[in-house]
Amino acid sequence: MQLEDIRRDYKHAELNEENSSKTPIQQFRTWMDNALEANITDATAMSLVSVGDDGFPQSRIVLLKDYDENGFTFFTNYNSQKGKAIEKDAKVSLHFYWSEMERQIRISGIASKTNTEVSKKYFHSRPQQSQIAAAISEQSSVVPSRKFLENAFTKLSKQLEGENPDCPSSWGGYKVTPVKFEFWQGRENRLHDRIVYEKIGNRWTIKRLAP
Ligand SMILES: Cc1cc2nc3c(=O)[nH]c(=O)nc-3n(C[C@H](O)[C@H](O)[C@H](O)COP(=O)(O)O)c2cc1C
Repeated sequence: MQLEDIRRDYKHAELNEENSSKTPIQQFRTWMDNALEANITDATAMSLVSVGDDGFPQSRIVLLKDYDENGFTFFTNYNSQKGKAIEKDAKVSLHFYWSEMERQIRISGIASKTNTEVSKKYFHSRPQQSQIAAAISEQSSVVPSRKFLENAFTKLSKQLEGENPDCPSSWGGYKVTPVKFEFWQGRENRLHDRIVYEKIGNRWTIKRLAP
């Protein structure tokens, strides 16, 4: 199979200035609900892009855990590469791609830490093993081996004797306050729909981009 021969038609739906929502968050909700109803695997997975110390953009998947008109929340380790990058430059982008729905959404926004109560509440809602893993993992630091992590996991599990670990101060959420959204719907003949919402003052403007 030659990669250059791989292509498909996009016929699932359309998005236009008339049928798109007044606000981008309503439009996001409609598409996210569609993706969840369609049981798309990892529908809440999004690429988070930040800019590293070396000036290179860095992309990785994180899971969206909450959203409203004020922002999009995910949880992570504040000392990870993404945490350090956001500390230096809070401008990030989020990217969803739902292949089955022939849709992508790009969001630009400003990341800020959620308050400790929000972080603790979510931390303790996770399975205990996940809490322990988060507590022993200095995410994105170099480790000597897998054994090293497994030993640390076993040691803390024993120490806790069935109790939950504390939420580490280095672990918590970020909320990304959006300033721009682009909704992309694949269409026939590669004439895709691209609807952009941009915040000017307190108002969301809508425009269409060429595919
Ligand atoms: C499906 C999926 C979901 C993930 N969810 C998260 C998440 O919610 N939070 C997180 O910190 N890392 C998550 N990861 C791991 C990240 O992609 C990444 O490896 C990790 O956060 C370290 O990134 P960094 O070194 O750029 O900071 C997920 C990975 C995958 C593939």
